[in-house]
Amino acid sequence: MDASVPRDDSLVTMTDLTREFSSGGGFMKPRRTMRAVNDVSLDVPRGKVTGVVGESGCGKSTLARLVLRLLEATEGTVIFDGKNLATQSQAEMRKLRRQMQMVFQDPYSAIDPRYTIRRALLEPFQVQGEAKTAAEARATVDELISMVGLSPRIMDSFPHQLSGGQKQRVGIARALALRPSFLVLDEPTASLDVSIQAQIVDLLEALKEELGLTYLFISHDLSLVRYFCDRVVVMYLGRVMEILPGAETQPRHHYAHALLDSNFEPDPTRRKIVTMLGGEIPSPFAKIPGCAFAARCPAASDACRRERPPLTNLGDGHMIACHNPMD
Ligand SMILES: Nc1ncnc2c1ncn2[C@@H]1O[C@H](COP(=O)(O)OP(=O)(O)OP(=O)(O)O)[C@@H](O)[C@H]1O
Ligand code: SF4
Ligand SMILES: [Mg+2]
Repeated sequence: MDASVPRDDSLVTMTDLTREFSSGGGFMKPRRTMRAVNDVSLDVPRGKVTGVVGESGCGKSTLARLVLRLLEATEGTVIFDGKNLATQSQAEMRKLRRQMQMVFQDPYSAIDPRYTIRRALLEPFQVQGEAKTAAEARATVDELISMVGLSPRIMDSFPHQLSGGQKQRVGIARALALRPSFLVLDEPTASLDVSIQAQIVDLLEALKEELGLTYLFISHDLSLVRYFCDRVVVMYLGRVMEILPGAETQPRHHYAHALLDSNFEPDPTRRKIVTMLGGEIPSPFAKIPGCAFAARCPAASDACRRERPPLTNLGDGHMIACHNPMD
């Protein structure tokens, strides 16, 4: 099947998506290139939550920015709702941007600290040049704020007067202002307490149902992603290691397994991942001929170090890139 032709049920289709970053190239400094996202092909089904999980630096945020064309791909394509993003004119891209929005880990990065909440929520309409009377705009932001479970009383507050959870609710309201169909959620709960995390996840779930949204949900926490997402994509050093078609599917990739084990412990200081895995993540500049995880994998064989395992289907959409999967 030609992977660049989107299936009917997919809102976003990524094909062979790659993004390189270079450094050096000056006097006595050889130019080095690394692939932050390396040959990723992935469908994001409509109305579902697709999770992307992996350790820091594995390329999650780079993937998010490529999907929204906030960053240009070195290779590969992104099809959004049947349209190839790379070939859209600026005017067309402007229209498409209304449909795709991002929620960040730190809502401060999306809200100007000098703005009241009301002004922050009005800003997307002004940026997009959407004509609204003052009364219409006021009614729209009032509706947005109650949609995310906040009281209209906070409208005249400044971001620093709100709690972390309240700020993230404002970040979500702002992302929803232009009625998008697709949200990329880049670690939206990572800076919040566990109990607040659960409230935000419940809110996102309710909004998805109410507004018919599609999510790409990024996290380093596989337990959380398995709880919230319909499908889970496990990344390591820019590559897809495993795709779990549902929360009930047990991971069979050694990396996914270690990640799951490490995340059972809510206290990050007590997590086992370092002892469990041993070794360090190789430099992203290293050219690894075989499996990117071989240096840390307890089941690595010579074949693993020599040949890169292709992503293969174990059945029912369970995909894995591993020469010796777990039972
Ligand atoms: N603009 C850039 N220039 C150079 N290198 C970059 C740039 N953006 C990202 N990288 C590199 O690409 C790799 C992937 O980074 P990315 O931010 O996508 O990871 P991540 O999975 O989102 O990590 P985290 O969990 O810490 O947010 C890292 O090695 C990072 O240093
Ligand atoms: S391919 Fe080999 S090194 Fe990589 S995860 Fe599988 S068993 Fe481990
Ligand atoms: Mg990131």
